[in-house]
Amino acid sequence: MTRTSINRPYMWLAQYYDQLFLSFRSPMDAARQRVLGRILPRVASACDLACGTGTTALALTREGIKMFAVDLSPAMCRLAREKAHRARLPLRVLCADMRKFRLPESVDLITCEYDALNHVQCRADLRMVAESVARALRPGGYFLFDVNNRSGFERYWSSIFWAEQPGVVVVMRNSHDCRHDRAWSDIEWFIREGNLWRRRRERVDEVCWSSDEIRRTLHEAGFDRLRAWDATPFFKDNPLIRPGCRTVYLARKASA
Ligand SMILES: C[S@@+](CC[C@H](N)C(=O)[O-])C[C@H]1O[C@@H](n2cnc3c(N)ncnc32)[C@H](O)[C@@H]1O
Repeated sequence: MTRTSINRPYMWLAQYYDQLFLSFRSPMDAARQRVLGRILPRVASACDLACGTGTTALALTREGIKMFAVDLSPAMCRLAREKAHRARLPLRVLCADMRKFRLPESVDLITCEYDALNHVQCRADLRMVAESVARALRPGGYFLFDVNNRSGFERYWSSIFWAEQPGVVVVMRNSHDCRHDRAWSDIEWFIREGNLWRRRRERVDEVCWSSDEIRRTLHEAGFDRLRAWDATPFFKDNPLIRPGCRTVYLARKASA
């Protein structure tokens, strides 16, 4: 071990995200297909918000949708651009904060997957995200997202997750404080550099939003319909996800 350093979140996570976590993303594909079923064929343009390494944005690009992708992490944006370049797919990636992002044109659909919305830290931020999403959508456009709920924090943000792949080991110490609706993961990386293993740290914080807070915030931002699905059926191979832990939402921006 040589030395330690603390990084902005989603720097090391970005670098090893696909290697370590890609297999955990398939439930979100199932949720998207189920929830967007009849809507997707009518979607011509869309944006994946908090796009990570661009997996969803590229999947939708492959369906013929004109895609934008937004993420705050420069490392995630770089990886998404590289993946698009390798796949020879047109994807415009914008490095921006989901609270303030602006797209060059309005789109039919915005997705925000894998509890990215839990990453905003206060109600005012949640409101900013809802307003930015509403501004970016055409009237009648849809916003698809999923969140961890309080019972999800209690159930799976309380243990140590550990994974190992060639050249990298990650230990995530997950904790929560349900009285304040917060959870966090202190992440330690051990990354092989020649004969040495370098240790790195970063931290991800999440806040959970009740369905009432989500409903009110979206309504105030101009969404007139909200449907919710419990995510358990999409995560059937994951015994940690039980009813109430995670919810998938679909909101519709009011028509003009
Ligand atoms: C759990 S990952 C999910 C990534 C991707 N949506 C997926 O399904 O794999 C959360 C993502 O949210 C991004 N993020 C966190 N806060 C953000 C913000 N304020 N604005 C934009 N992106 C943000 C992180 O950089 C990270 O890529």
